[in-house]
Amino acid sequence: MPTLPRTYRDERDFLHRAIRFASRQGHIHRFLVLGAGLPYTRPIHDDVLPHPRGMVVYADHDEYVTAHVRLVEPELPQIAAVRGDFLEPGTIFFDDAVRTLLRHGSPIGLVLTGVLETVADTDQATTALRCYTERLPAGSVVIATHATVEGLDAGDTADATLAEHRRILCDTYGRTAHRPPQHLRTTEELRQILGCLRLIPPGITHTSAWHNPRLAHGDRPVESLCLAAVAHLRRPRTPPSSAGHLRSVDGGTR
Ligand SMILES: C[S@@+](CC[C@H](N)C(=O)[O-])C[C@H]1O[C@@H](n2cnc3c(N)ncnc32)[C@H](O)[C@@H]1O
Repeated sequence: MPTLPRTYRDERDFLHRAIRFASRQGHIHRFLVLGAGLPYTRPIHDDVLPHPRGMVVYADHDEYVTAHVRLVEPELPQIAAVRGDFLEPGTIFFDDAVRTLLRHGSPIGLVLTGVLETVADTDQATTALRCYTERLPAGSVVIATHATVEGLDAGDTADATLAEHRRILCDTYGRTAHRPPQHLRTTEELRQILGCLRLIPPGITHTSAWHNPRLAHGDRPVESLCLAAVAHLRRPRTPPSSAGHLRSVDGGTR
């Protein structure tokens, strides 16, 4: 898939623009990253920790991810790795580092890049996200990306090849040990998942198009093969729904 580097570079660049946007516009310096993935160059905490109140909690259900974060990232109280399943919010919320992150009631950034596509059922992804947003402090934002082939021209050979490669990539995840396949979604399906939130303009775009002053003339953002959005919690906040009961690791609810 010759365009794979572009897809991931665009996603990463979007993530950094979104983090900077959240810290400048929303004064958000604390982030919870769900489905964090293995450590990579330009980690989020490089952008965040220069701020005195900066903190990043990386959460992933893969023990190799949490082990690597603990191994390679600086040992600082402002960086934590949590092993938890984002579809079981209790495994995330009851962790001490996440409690610390949320303790002060200041808004946080919830980051879901490259992870919503692991959930096959759109309703399940919608319910899971609502379980988080109902518990986040007012003013918090959600930063999300999602794999897509939307916008490609099915009648164009090059576009059709791109779409085919993206589909193969999604399936390949499922053939890798202990990983679910990824699922493509459209703007409307991502909008449904983010339904409890207010999208920040320009709304859902391809990753390379979101607040990108460097987008080159003639660039085709659809070739990012990935959607992006930053959204605010709506106000007033509604009390957590019954679907939002947290199940702790020991099975109790709160
Ligand atoms: C494609 S990687 C994306 C990593 C990173 N967020 C990024 O943008 O590069 C997906 C990550 O999500 C994690 N993941 C998948 N399903 C998860 C779940 N239900 N709970 C927590 N982590 C999950 C995987 O272990 C993997 O590390």
